Order: sequence, then structure tokens, then C-alpha cells
Amino acid sequence: MKTITALLIYVTAAFSCVAADPTFTVDASHPAGKVSPMFNGLMTEEINHSYDGGLYAELIQNRAFLDDAATPVHWSAVNADDSAATIALDPTNSFNNKLTESLRLTVTKATKARPAGVANGGYWGIPVQPKTSYHASILARADANFSGPITVSIVSDDGKKVYATGKFSGLTAGWNKFELTLKTGRIKPTAKAHFAITLDQPGTVWLGMVSLFPPTWNDQPKGFRKDLMQMLIDLNPKFLRFPGGNYVEGDTVETRFDWKHTIGPIEERHGHPCPWGYRSTDGMGLLEFLEWCEDMKAEPVLAVYAGYSLKGMHVNPGPDLDPFVRDALDEIEYVTGDTNTPWGAQRAKDGHPAPCKLNYVEIGNEDWFDKSKSYDQRFAQFYDAIKARYPQLKVISTIGNDQPETSHVHSRQPDMTDEHYYRSVDTFIGMSPEYARQYDRHGPEVFVGEWAAYETSFPPWNQRSQHEPPTPNLKAALGDAIFMAAMERNSDLICMQCYAPLLVNVNPGARQWRPDLIGYDAVSAYGSPSYYAIQMFSRNLGDEILSTRVFQTAVQGSATRDSKTGEIFLKLVNPQATAESLKIAIKGVAMVSSKADAIILTGNLDDSNSITRPRKVVPITKTVRGVKSGFTYKMPPHSIVVLKLSTR
Ligand code: AHR
Repeated sequence: MKTITALLIYVTAAFSCVAADPTFTVDASHPAGKVSPMFNGLMTEEINHSYDGGLYAELIQNRAFLDDAATPVHWSAVNADDSAATIALDPTNSFNNKLTESLRLTVTKATKARPAGVANGGYWGIPVQPKTSYHASILARADANFSGPITVSIVSDDGKKVYATGKFSGLTAGWNKFELTLKTGRIKPTAKAHFAITLDQPGTVWLGMVSLFPPTWNDQPKGFRKDLMQMLIDLNPKFLRFPGGNYVEGDTVETRFDWKHTIGPIEERHGHPCPWGYRSTDGMGLLEFLEWCEDMKAEPVLAVYAGYSLKGMHVNPGPDLDPFVRDALDEIEYVTGDTNTPWGAQRAKDGHPAPCKLNYVEIGNEDWFDKSKSYDQRFAQFYDAIKARYPQLKVISTIGNDQPETSHVHSRQPDMTDEHYYRSVDTFIGMSPEYARQYDRHGPEVFVGEWAAYETSFPPWNQRSQHEPPTPNLKAALGDAIFMAAMERNSDLICMQCYAPLLVNVNPGARQWRPDLIGYDAVSAYGSPSYYAIQMFSRNLGDEILSTRVFQTAVQGSATRDSKTGEIFLKLVNPQATAESLKIAIKGVAMVSSKADAIILTGNLDDSNSITRPRKVVPITKTVRGVKSGFTYKMPPHSIVVLKLSTR
């Protein structure tokens, strides 16, 4: 993995190319290095309603009434106008010490013709699909005079259509869980619907938790949204970095991702404020992350809380940090331990007896922000404890080559360091030709744990980003592809890389960051041009790096080969507004098949995809003829091309 000194440069005298022509040369005579088998992955955290209102398929927003201590946000009374129903938070009647609130519904006037109750608008609408079964579960109790029935329905926002409905009764003064299946008929998909719980006679009812799930990926109870899972799997990820990002750190030590509070039945999860300005249900807990990895056949890259939180708090290395180190060891045991270990047994109790695969643990996130400069010591404390019990694990430092050398971890040699790049398209174009060439091939392996090109004149964290579309346009995809090619050329050392952020709910008010790879609302999802660029790269990755060189062209690219089939993958990116007749020279192959597939993503710079135009910019595949070891390929303006060349 660490044998290459300079992948890009080699003597090209053997090629009969004219230096004045735009030329892309590939040395296929011998591999310049091995492509890391873990190269392509995904990064995720709770941001932009990635889980709640996103991948985690729960449809009820504020299901446990904990989102706002003052008022039951996202809930409203049905028939409140004539005071038939009133709702209020009631912490004195809570289900347990985790669900510390309840919603009291008082109905004073109601009949079958005019029921009264409470409604929830979901995460920007309840998505209603035809001929679909929804699973509702409701924790409820009632005053002594009321035992039901209660009607549960999915209703159009104008109140004219009931898409699905069911009833339950048997309420008592004690808490009970009621479960129902609601089935829709032949209807048009819509998100202009809400969920309603109504009474047709007076009564007082307390709700402890109200949950509604559509069909999920693999029919997993309390699982994931199907369309998003398919899109993620289509990216062919080898790993998933979770749970952050800033999400692992929290604004404060108390609001970190405290994994022990994210496991077990959802009634046992209090949730916590996430640093992106809303409350997380913790429905996407540690076990759900692991199951998500398994569903994608990807490995976890487990980020553990490392004693630094975003508001500048840090935990002193030494005895103060010990409980957090123990938490990390317990977490690793929960992931990997067999059922004879305490935390492995807990995982089995939670429904997953088999240990999960784990090779990578990251200590914190972006710890260069820690002004106390305590990371070196904090890292060492985690590193020593983890290596003592799990010597096989690769331990990742969050301070990488993008930060000054003086801030790096020096007291230990991390197995890998994580570097993050949010850069403008022009910056990526400028930095990519030389990127990573000078990195020490004997130092730690490199993880580019967050990266994305932005096409705006201001960075993603600028407030002005709120006025831009949530997902990037083709211009950004060109910058992304150029940087991906640079990482791929160095994928002997850059063992893993992942774009960030991954997911965005596009509804106004749902997002905190742009650009994001995949956008969605309640009913549909789409990939940005960058999504398709990443897919083109990740589905066409060989296992050998081939040296490349460019002459007289702004085109940047990379070349890899599948050692089993001999197929060569050329990734070429033309950021120019003009077509480029590129001379392609392949050295060191006995033959090249005269026919090749070209996968092409092109368009206008500001073209983008959206909910209403999800496939405006998508790759197309064309056959290229006349291919040989020296041939000319005309790249369209503003294009990303993968050329697949057969050499056997
Ligand atoms: O991806 C958005 C944020 O950018 C991440 O949470 C953080 O690690 C980085 O600063």
C-alpha cells in the first residue's frame, strides 16, 4: 500500500504523441499501486433531517412530545375551533423516566359525525402511497370514564379524504400499547396528508408516544426508507462513517451522541438535542447504524466521543476522561463482543445476537478546533486503551494533512488520519493535480472523511447558502470528480474517502447545510449530479492504480485496472466550456478492444436535479468505436467521462 513514490510522473518518451496536442497518457505496463479495497464509502450524521424526516422511516414528527418543553410542536387539536378538543403537554403523567412528557387530549364535545382529537403533520407531510400498509403504534392511557374506541386515520390536509383508517379500544387508567395496520387503497401518491387520532365521544386521553411507519427496507420493524436505501446501495459503499461529524461531539458534553441512550426499545430512548438545531429521537441508534451497514454490505467506521464538544468544552485527559474511554470500550464490545460479554449480550437482547464486523474506530471529530490543544493526550488515552483490548483495530486521528503539522498527534502514531475538504470548484481544480503526491508513504494511512465541492462564491457554512438549492449543480460535480480522480490516483495511501453531507430533506426549514448529495421530501428522492459522478467512479473501480500524465489540457483524470479481467477504467473530467479532442495513449498493453463503453455526465454548468426534475442531469452510456492504444476521444464540454477499455 505504501510503495509508490510518484504516481503521476513517468517518462513518456515511448509514446508517439505530439506534445502540442491535448494528451492523456496511461502507463499500463505495470501497476503503480494497489487501489484500497475500502476506497469508496459514505459519511453520515443527523444533519438536514438525515434520519428523523429522512432515512429513519418514522412518519410522526415529535412522536414523544419532547421536541419543545413548552408546547406540543407539530401537534394540533382537531376541531379545536369550537373548543371540542384541547391538547397540552403533561409531564406529570409520563410513561417512564425516558419518555418524560405526555400529551393530554381533552375532548368535551364529539360525535360520530363530528369527531374531535389531535393531528400530526409528519415531517413536512405524511407520505401516502397507493395500496400500502402503515404500522401505527400508540402508547395511551385514559381517565376512568373512557375506554374507547379511538379512531386512527391518515387524512388529506383539506379534510376531504380519509386515505386509511382503523380503531382501537380497551384503554385503561394504566399505560397500554396499541398497534394497528392502516391500509390505503388505489390513490395517487401525495404528502398533503396528516395523521389523526380522534374520539367520537367526550373523554380524556394521554398519549405517551405515537409512531407510524410505512413499509421499510427489508421489512425491518422501525427501519429505513426504501427509496433512500436503494440510492445508497447504488453507490456501492464499502464503509459507513458514523455517527458524525459534529453529531458525535454535540454542542456540549451532555448532548454528545451518548450511544448507551440510543439502544433498546424506542420507548426507552429519550432522544437528545442535536447540534444542528433540532432534537433527535435517537430512533437511529447504535444498532440501527450497524444494521444499516449490514444492509449495504459495508463496514462501520465507528466514531467515538473523544472528550471535545462544539461549544469549546473539553474533558481533561487523565481520570476525567476515563469514563469516556470506558464508554468507547463498551461501545466496541457492543459492536463486536460475543454473547458472553456484557455488551455483546445486550446487543443480543436488542435483537442482534451475531457480532458485527469492525476494523476502524475514529477518535472524535475535527479535534483541531479544540483550543485547549488536549487532543494529543486525549487521543493517546483512547488509543492505548483500545489497542490493549483490540490490537487489530485501526485507530484514526481526526487531525490530518490538511492541518498544520504542529497540531497533529505526535505521542502515538495513528493508524490513519482523517482530513476534510470543503472547497470551491476552482480550488479543487487548482489543488488536485498535486494533491497527496508529497504525502509520506511511510506515515499513517489517509482517510478523507468529509469532502465536497461548492459552486457558490461563499462556503457552505455561510448564511447565504440557505438561499441556494440544497443539492449541488453540474459545476460542483465537475469539481467533485476532479478531486475524486486525484484521490483515486493516490488510492494506495488514501484508503477511504466519503462525500459529506450525504442527505438533505429539501423542505424549507429542514436543512442546515448545502451542498448535499441526495435530496428528498416525504414522497420522493433524487440524486444530485455529484451523486451520479460518485456512482460513476465507485462502480468502475479496479484494484490496480495506473500512472497517468496529462499534456496541454485542462482535463484531469485517473486510470485504474481490474487485475482479474484486464479492464481499464479511465476517468476523465473536462471542466472547460469547449469540447476537448483528447489524444489517449495506453502504454504496455498487448491489445485494446476497438469498442469501448463511455459513461458520460454532461450539461450546462448550472444544470441540477430536483424533486420536480430528478433526472435532468444523469449519466448516459455510449459505445465508442475505433479505440486502440493510441486514439482520440472527443470529450464534450463540461463533462465527466468513464471510458471502459477491454484489454484481453
Ligand atoms: O458535514 C458538515 C459538518 O462539517 C460536519 O458535521 C463537520 O465534521 C464538518 O465541519
